[in-house]
Amino acid sequence: MVSESTPSGLAVEENPGAAPRPVRQKVFSGIQPTGNFHLGNYLGAIRNWVAQQSEYDNIFCVVDLHALSQTTSRDTLRENNRNLANMLLASGLDPAQSIIFIQSDVREHTELCWLLSSVTMDGELRRMTQFKDKAGGRGERVSSALLFYPVLQAADILLYDTNLVPVGEDQKQHIELTRDIGARFNARYGETFVLPQPDIKANGARIMSLEDPTKKMSKSDASPNASIALTDDPDTIRRKIRRAVTDSGTEVVAAPDKPALTNLLTIYSLLSNEPIAALEERYAGKGYGAFKTDLAEVVVAAMAPIQARLADLDANPDAARAILSDGADRARARAIFKMAEVRDRMGIGLG
Ligand code: TYM
Repeated sequence: MVSESTPSGLAVEENPGAAPRPVRQKVFSGIQPTGNFHLGNYLGAIRNWVAQQSEYDNIFCVVDLHALSQTTSRDTLRENNRNLANMLLASGLDPAQSIIFIQSDVREHTELCWLLSSVTMDGELRRMTQFKDKAGGRGERVSSALLFYPVLQAADILLYDTNLVPVGEDQKQHIELTRDIGARFNARYGETFVLPQPDIKANGARIMSLEDPTKKMSKSDASPNASIALTDDPDTIRRKIRRAVTDSGTEVVAAPDKPALTNLLTIYSLLSNEPIAALEERYAGKGYGAFKTDLAEVVVAAMAPIQARLADLDANPDAARAILSDGADRARARAIFKMAEVRDRMGIGLG
């Protein structure tokens, strides 16, 4: 069934014969188990998933099949899956409010990826910024999984009639492609997929590297000092913030010509829930040193409860396993239903 998103955050489900009943909008988002879960992932995505989870019908996914687009070993992938699942729970995702599961546990994602590839143009995939960045001119020598990455992402999203996809800024293009793929499928086979909207916040959608504020904070950055991992201990956090590059001048202000300070103020503001203007006022004339010292304590304090919950979860691995297994069952029930519709629309099999 196709439902239209409304700006109120509610969708009205068509149900002939009954009065329209407001239903919660469907949210889907995913994160790769590629290690080094960092403050950019947290502020750009996960924190928002947690903050909004009571408002929506949510599905959150550890996208282990996407991680195969980058070279990884068997043991590393397993370990990253477990660590990331624990990290999501420690960050506040609540299985009572959200379905949380590992992508590869629901085989329908890979099946839909293949079916959608038939309405996806090769040129569209080659034009994706993330593919061009990651392939880095080595087009002939990177895995085709890297090229196909956005088709699998489109499958993840379209499979669950998703209305909203909360992500960081870097994923905007992939969500636009998802809409194009869904619209093309609908035009060819009839209305099947809901076309999702990206949910990208005005602040925190692009947290920058601490070493180079013109580059985003990234899991694949070779330098550990460029990002703050959510597992960094307090002294490591303090050292990284002390070393973080600043702009020329001494004023603690956010401005287009002050990308480093803008980034640090954004982190401070999001974690302390104080507007940037109030912080600029507080640190006027105080210089970078005092600001950085306080920022480090704000980050340490924000990480402390997450790290405490993480330690509990790490000590009790069966807890996450049970939650993910239940999440996969719930996701699969929805995915099987949707795939029956998709196969029928396309004329797959004998019917
Ligand atoms: P991944 O694991 O690369 O990133 C997970 C989330 O973190 C956001 N993010 C950032 N936000 C702000 N500042 C940064 N420096 C920063 N770095 C990363 C990303 O935008 C993302 O929201 N392709 C997805 C994974 C995926 C997915 C999906 C997402 C697979 N299927 C379906 C949504 C829906 C990704 O980038 O993961």
